Amino acid sequence: MDLITSVSEMRHRCLTERQAGKTISFVPTMGYLHQGHVSLLEAGRKRGDLLVLSIFVNPTQFGQGEDFEVYPRDLAQDSVLAEQAGVDIIFAPDARQMYPSGYATYVDVERLTETLCGASRAGHFRGVCTVVNKLFNIVQPQVSLFGCKDFQQLAVIRQMVADLNMPVEIIGLPIVREKDGLAMSSRNVNLNPKQRQQALILSSVLRQCAEQARAGERDALALIDFARQQIEFRSEARIDYLQICNQTTLQDVTLIDEQAVMLLAVFFGQTRLIDNGYLLQ
Ligand code: PAJ
Repeated sequence: MDLITSVSEMRHRCLTERQAGKTISFVPTMGYLHQGHVSLLEAGRKRGDLLVLSIFVNPTQFGQGEDFEVYPRDLAQDSVLAEQAGVDIIFAPDARQMYPSGYATYVDVERLTETLCGASRAGHFRGVCTVVNKLFNIVQPQVSLFGCKDFQQLAVIRQMVADLNMPVEIIGLPIVREKDGLAMSSRNVNLNPKQRQQALILSSVLRQCAEQARAGERDALALIDFARQQIEFRSEARIDYLQICNQTTLQDVTLIDEQAVMLLAVFFGQTRLIDNGYLLQ
C-alpha cells in the first residue's frame, strides 16, 4: 500500500494506472476510520482493480465554531485498517495542497442543499461538493462509494455528478452500526460516557418510529412529536433537526409512504450526530 500526499503525484499515478487499463474505485473520507468506512472499502475492493482511499479533513466544509480543530485524526491507525481492507493507495494531502493561496473556485448544488444539514450548516455542502469534485479530478475513479449514513450528502453528490456529467458511478451503502445500535461515526469518540449512553436514543427512536409506521401510523407529525419527546427527555441532547422527508426531493412529507425517511441531527454536548432510517422499507 502506498501513501501519497502530493496532488501532482497522485494525479500522475492514477492517470498511469488508467492508461494501463485499470478500473479505479475510490472512497473519500476524513479519516479516523471505523467499520462504516471499512464497509465502503470492502465494496470498493470488489468493484475496481485499484482501490484508492482519501483521508482529508476538509476545512471548507466546516463552519465557524464547528469541530474542525477537534475532529479526530490518526493516520497511523487508519493505515493499518486500510491495509487490512485491501487499499492500494491512501491519498492524504494537506490543506495547502488542496487550497493553495489564491484558491477561488467552489461548486454549489442548489435546492437539495437548502434543507436539513444544509440549513443548519451554512456552506457545508459547498465545501463537500468542492472537495469531492477536486478529489474526483485528481483520482479519476470510475466508481466511488458513499454511505447512506450521510443521506443528504449522498443525494447531493448524485445530483452534482448528474448535473455536471461527471464520468463516475456513485454507489450508496447501508449504515453500519455499533452492536447497541449507535451509527458508527468518527465523532463518537468525542462523546463522554453519559453522552454515549444517551446517544442510543437516536437509533432507538428511528426503530420505534419505523415500528409504528409499519403498524399503520401514517401521520408524519405524530411520529415527529413522539420522537422529539423521546430525545428531549435525554438531558444531554439538543435537537438540531428532526424531519420526515421524501427520499428523493428531501422535502418534508405529511403522510408516510415507502419513500419516507426520518432524518435527525442531535447535539450531545458539542458533538453533533446524524442518523436516519426509512419508515416503511
Ligand atoms: P466521513 O465522515 O469520513 O465519511 C466518509 C464516508 O463514510 C461517507 O460516505 C460516509 O457516509 C461514510 N460513513 C460514515 N459513517 C458511516 C456508517 N456508520 N456506515 C456507513 N457509511 C458511513 O463524509 C465525509 O467524510 C466527507 O464529507 C467527505 C465525503 C469525505 C468529503 O470531505
